[in-house]
Amino acid sequence: VEPGLPALARLGIVGAGQIARMTYQAALKLGITPRLLAERIDDSAALVASDVVIGHPDSVAGFADTCGVLTFEHERLDVGLLERLEEGGRVIRPGTRTIRAAFDKIHQRRILTNRGFPVPAFAEITGPDDVFDFASVFDWPIVLKRARAADQDAKGVWIVENQAEALRVLNEQNRHRMLAESFVAIASELVVLIVRRPGGHVRVYPVTQVTNVDGVCREIVAPAPVAPATAEAARTLARRIADELDSVGVLAVELFLTAEGLLVNELAARPHNAGHLTIEATPTSQFENHIRAVLDLPLGPTWPSCPAAATVNVISGIESTDPSANLTEALAVEGAHIHLYGKRAGPGRKLGHVTALGSDPDEALAVARRAESALLGRRPW
Ligand SMILES: Nc1ncnc2c1ncn2[C@@H]1O[C@H](COP(=O)(O)OP(=O)(O)OP(=O)(O)O)[C@@H](O)[C@H]1O
Ligand SMILES: [Mg+2]
Repeated sequence: VEPGLPALARLGIVGAGQIARMTYQAALKLGITPRLLAERIDDSAALVASDVVIGHPDSVAGFADTCGVLTFEHERLDVGLLERLEEGGRVIRPGTRTIRAAFDKIHQRRILTNRGFPVPAFAEITGPDDVFDFASVFDWPIVLKRARAADQDAKGVWIVENQAEALRVLNEQNRHRMLAESFVAIASELVVLIVRRPGGHVRVYPVTQVTNVDGVCREIVAPAPVAPATAEAARTLARRIADELDSVGVLAVELFLTAEGLLVNELAARPHNAGHLTIEATPTSQFENHIRAVLDLPLGPTWPSCPAAATVNVISGIESTDPSANLTEALAVEGAHIHLYGKRAGPGRKLGHVTALGSDPDEALAVARRAESALLGRRPW
């Protein structure tokens, strides 16, 4: 390690949900104990970490004073504050230029459009007239989104069929910045994870395909069942975006595959739900590579170490079953890798995930689905 690199400085992680929990677990393996800024003592990562500061994300300045390198597991951040910290010499990774591009969907779309990346048609919505105008050009249904990430597990995307539905959503969300998007006929949703070190060394993970139900990510398979040329185009696009934003750490690029080609849906400058299967399916997980990248350490290989893999998210239903009560049944599913986040059950909450490997995506998916059904006390598919 060259002198001056903060590789062995204390790593601070802002946020303590399941992404931070799995990042923390990967750090421990390397003998690194990150310090966490958690909002609550029972946050998923706070439950397993030994070095936890409880505080609002806005108290990040004081937290940063105690860390050598700062990274983040979510986008609910005051970017202006982070910029001032960066100007003051704090090491923030990814840098605020990348964070700024990821934290606000309107800003993100503008940045991507200005640089020639393909995105769905969009407009900022400041009132009912903007919706009316947008729908008169792009037709119903349209998609309304909150510009800033909603709280964990809360809804931030609505597909609305008419003016009345749109107004209802706008009224409910009237304290938030909103955008409208044209409703895209999506053939397949792909996510490319790319990890980048300061200075630009990158590794790209195999392209995954995600299945969303009601705008919520349910299942992920790798490799994505798309033409090799499509997968290559997706990887190239992600790499160009990462270079353009000078990202550091994991950048997740969510793409829509349409009849006309690829569109960029959104970016997340952190490990991503679609990459949980890298724990079992690649030599270096997205979490470990995120740590390596933000600490400017050599990146690990990202090639597939098995023919196929699948993840099924464990999402609490209205009955709020505690999945850990069903471990006996779930662990009886041979080949299922069970990950539970230690969160309290509640409708719509992501409580864990199951990954399985297989000779093809469907075989892996069948195993993961069986274990997920067992965890939620449902009959298998
Ligand atoms: N313009 C669109 N046309 C059609 N479907 C869309 C559009 N935008 C979003 N969706 C659907 O809604 C999902 C969630 O949208 P988006 O990724 O923007 O929100 P999100 O709040 O970040 O969700 P997540 O955190 O689960 O990624 C998409 O993955 C897609 O299935
Ligand atoms: Mg998304």
